[in-house]
Amino acid sequence: MPNIKNFEHSFNEDFQYSHNNPYHDRLEKFSSFVLRDLEPEKLKGKWNQECFKNDSLLNVEIGTGYGHFMKEFCTDHPNENFIGMDYRFKRSFNLAKQLNDLSVKNFRYIRAKAERIDFLFSQAEVDKLYYFFPDPWPKTRHLKKRLFKQPFLSHLKKVMKPTGTVYIKTDHDQYYEWMLNHLELNSELFNIEANSNDIHKSENPSFDLLKKYQTKFEKIFLSKGKNINGIILTCK
Ligand SMILES: C[S@@+](CC[C@H](N)C(=O)[O-])C[C@H]1O[C@@H](n2cnc3c(N)ncnc32)[C@H](O)[C@@H]1O
Repeated sequence: MPNIKNFEHSFNEDFQYSHNNPYHDRLEKFSSFVLRDLEPEKLKGKWNQECFKNDSLLNVEIGTGYGHFMKEFCTDHPNENFIGMDYRFKRSFNLAKQLNDLSVKNFRYIRAKAERIDFLFSQAEVDKLYYFFPDPWPKTRHLKKRLFKQPFLSHLKKVMKPTGTVYIKTDHDQYYEWMLNHLELNSELFNIEANSNDIHKSENPSFDLLKKYQTKFEKIFLSKGKNINGIILTCK
């Protein structure tokens, strides 16, 4: 896990990834669709033209985890582009093995940190962004590690198209409230199109996509009767 100092530094221009993890090398086997560390930053502003070679919608998922959403969404939307991103090495390798077997090829996978979003995408490049069950960092001394605050929020707004949408789900009630709070504090960035502390009970059709795709973590929480919080943002 990165310490807090590294977390803050990972937003900076001079940041370099530093690790010694065998899965970093093992991921090279999947270099046709996996980009590691700073490699994907070379495609900033050129994902559709140079990488996907089309002008379809660009979807980005932060914290892909075990990839349930990524695999299902890519298969259901073969005519859209999808970039999954996670920083855990072994999890990335296990997912890459499964992605390699998918019949669709409309995706790339980034083994990198979401703090780099401003270096990964240029202004107004992303159509839809998904952020499902982020690590809640519940201890007070770890709150600084939560991503969903400044400067991330401004960077996120910058890379989203003006017509773009951000989809968020979390089991963690305090992180949900905390995110709403930070959105209010930065109210010039996004409109809260819809929010609910129990999307599966909500009849608002805005949550249809969030209800349709259930991630690994979501299935575990639902089996324990936990409510799932959701937020949908559009850009101002
Ligand atoms: C609790 S898991 C949820 C995984 C998946 N979205 C799901 O719902 O099953 C959170 C994931 O986000 C990843 N993650 C956390 N912080 C990240 C960051 N700053 N950049 C990239 N990935 C991150 C973790 O490695 C982990 O795989």
